[in-house]
Amino acid sequence: MFSAARADSVAALVADAALLDFPPGSRVLDLCCGPGLFVVPLARRGHHVTGVDLSEPMLARARTACADAGVTAELLRADMLHHVRPGAYDVVLNVFTSFGYFADPADNLQVLRNARRSLAPGGRLVVDVMGKEVLAGWIGRPQVVDLPDGSYVVQRDTVLDSWRRLRTDWTLVRGENARTAAIHSFLYSAAELHDLFRAAGFDSVATYGDFDGGPYDQHARRLVVVGRTPAA
Ligand SMILES: C[S@@+](CC[C@H](N)C(=O)[O-])C[C@H]1O[C@@H](n2cnc3c(N)ncnc32)[C@H](O)[C@@H]1O
Repeated sequence: MFSAARADSVAALVADAALLDFPPGSRVLDLCCGPGLFVVPLARRGHHVTGVDLSEPMLARARTACADAGVTAELLRADMLHHVRPGAYDVVLNVFTSFGYFADPADNLQVLRNARRSLAPGGRLVVDVMGKEVLAGWIGRPQVVDLPDGSYVVQRDTVLDSWRRLRTDWTLVRGENARTAAIHSFLYSAAELHDLFRAAGFDSVATYGDFDGGPYDQHARRLVVVGRTPAA
C-alpha cells in the first residue's frame, strides 16, 4: 500500500493530474495522510500542507518522508471524525479509500460536514475511493502482491450487508510467519457518495473515474468525487 513504487506514482499524479492541480500556495489538508505519500509532493509544489492521521506510527513515517525530501508540512494526530478548522483550507483531500471507516453512517457523513466547514469560500473537497461499481468488476479474486524482500501479501475482500459494507482481509507471509489484519468499510456507488456530499452541504458536486477528470463510466478504475464551496 505504501511502497516506493506507489510513492513514485503518487508524485507523478500530483505533478500531472488535473484534479490535483491547485493554485500555487493553496492550503491543503490531506485527511488520513498515512505516511505522507501525497503530503511530500504537494508540499514540494509549494502548497501549505497539513497532514492529519490517527496513527502516530504513520505520522512518524510522514515526518521522516518530509525531512528526507527537505519539505515542510504540518503533521497532526487527529481523528477525522473531529478535525474541524472553520474556513482554514482551500482543498481537503481524502484519498486512497480513506473514507467510510465508521460503523455508524452518520459518522461518515459527519466527516464530510467537517470538511465542508473547514473549507474557505471557493474551496474543494476531493474524495477518492474504490467505487461500488468498479469493485463489482473484480471482487472475489484474491490478490497477491509480491514484496521486494521475498515476502508477499494476500488480500481478500468480502461483501457484507447487501453491498453496504466491505471486509478486507490481508495476510502478510514472511518466511515461516504469517500476520493478518482486517478492516471494515462502507461501500459507495457514485450516486450514493454524490448524495452524501449534497447532504453534507455541497451544492456543486461532480464525480470522476480518475484524477485526470475522466468520466466515471465502465472504464473507471476509481471513484473520485469533488465538492466545491461557493466563491466569496
Ligand atoms: C488506506 S490508508 C491511506 C493513506 C493515504 N491517504 C495514502 O494515500 O497513502 C488510510 C489511513 O487512514 C488513517 N485513519 C484511519 N482511521 C482514521 C481516523 N478516524 N482519523 C484519521 N485517520 C484515520 C490510517 O491510519 C491510514 O493511515
